[in-house]
Amino acid sequence: MSDKTHQQNLVRAQNAVREKESIAQMGRYRQQYHFMASTGWINDPNGLIYWRGQYHLFYQYNPYEAVWGAMHWGHAVSNDLIHWEHLPIALAPSEPYDDHPSGGCFSGSAVDDGDRLVLLYTAATESAQGSVQTQCLASSSDGITFEKYENNPVIRELPPDSSPDFRDPKVLRYKDFWYLIVGSSLGKGAREGGDGCAQMYKSADLKRWEYCGVIAKSNGTLGTMWECPDLFWLGDKWVLMFSPMFYGERKTIYLIGDMDFENALFSWEYEGEIDCGFDYYAPQSFLDDKGRRILIAWANSWDWMPWWKDFGRTAGEGWCGHFAVPREMRLTEDKGLQFMPISELESLRTGHEEYPAFILEAEERKEIYAGDGIHCELVLTIDVAASTAEQMFLDVRQGKDERVRITLSFKDREVLFERMDSNGQADILKRQVFPDFGSDSLTLHLYLDTCCVELFALDYKLSFSGNIYFSEKSNYLFLESKCGNTKFNCIHTYGLTMG
Ligand code: FRU
Repeated sequence: MSDKTHQQNLVRAQNAVREKESIAQMGRYRQQYHFMASTGWINDPNGLIYWRGQYHLFYQYNPYEAVWGAMHWGHAVSNDLIHWEHLPIALAPSEPYDDHPSGGCFSGSAVDDGDRLVLLYTAATESAQGSVQTQCLASSSDGITFEKYENNPVIRELPPDSSPDFRDPKVLRYKDFWYLIVGSSLGKGAREGGDGCAQMYKSADLKRWEYCGVIAKSNGTLGTMWECPDLFWLGDKWVLMFSPMFYGERKTIYLIGDMDFENALFSWEYEGEIDCGFDYYAPQSFLDDKGRRILIAWANSWDWMPWWKDFGRTAGEGWCGHFAVPREMRLTEDKGLQFMPISELESLRTGHEEYPAFILEAEERKEIYAGDGIHCELVLTIDVAASTAEQMFLDVRQGKDERVRITLSFKDREVLFERMDSNGQADILKRQVFPDFGSDSLTLHLYLDTCCVELFALDYKLSFSGNIYFSEKSNYLFLESKCGNTKFNCIHTYGLTMG
């Protein structure tokens, strides 16, 4: 009976997609090679898994409108993490525990339990007391059609001291058991100043879960609620990653340390920021068939689209949201994390331009070229030791009064990311001071698409993601050296096309 409602709601949602997708396809801000839904709203990536020879990507989805609303799980598959085929929507709100206009099937993860692809997600509904969040299971034998488990929710009670902010299960296998890590806020809720934390459950069959405890918490220093926690083994360490609410400008955090499963305790020695830009949130990782730990994130942030204002520039085109390019994560010798754009992206390159070593003189402004200046990639290597400048600017998507400026401040050992739009509204600056700026050479690696810029710097330990909604005439690229010269070892640029 209840599965019938689910299947009906899926058909209704799919029909809405079919009706509206041709309109969204015409949108002028549609990306070329970043993942988007064909129409409607998306936020967090969910259920990332390499299953039976293909990559599966699920995502928080409102198929009806380009604004956040009752959450479905969209679904796509790929052979290379870049070219995606959209599949039928996997989950729709349908049951008393997940059928609410301001709830639905919230974020979660996927695992292979042998013969079925199993999804664990947060079911969100409302009661007179407020939000009710429980953890639920759905599964599929073909990886396309999903049934919700008849005894859902599989975790229905809040653990001790937990606020109703209790969501985003990430399931991992360790030794002989399944472990589920879920994000919460201890004591008070996220908006009342609780303590962000990650809690752990244990199970032998993915259906009966035993509560183990709080594995890590904020103690007033790391945000009030940890959304989308993810615990995984990398190199020779355990990494706990999450998206904290109310942690100032910091949106995505990783902690590197050790995990004691017996005592349900994660201890950490290092804290870092995954992306320092404006638009990077709710990343989820998975281990692929090549042994790589891949990370995919929603390239947006709640801060820029509060629902009482607007949902961003593309909502008027019938769609909103894309994912940042997939990154491979590596642990460095000094126990930091590196985030490298996956090598599959190289298959999109066209029109290679190479600029051999040259010196940009003080106050010189030089134009460079990369594809059409909008869908392109740039790799610049700068000889820091041989440069006398105080600053070097790289201006991309430069137009009459729009641009993204990346500043290398040799003087202050900083990398700055600044976007300026023609309304003068988004003239915001972000910076990151790096003590080990690099005394020899330093590489800046950039990906540009219709409405975003992603920058990787400092040996891929630093990244900035930012969305921009510029005129297509803003497609110039310039280099400028301030108060001294800048030596470039080489510059490679490429156009990028899906072909
Ligand atoms: C993160 C998040 C999750 C939640 C989902 C709802 O962006 O708030 O915590 O599950 O989005 O769409």
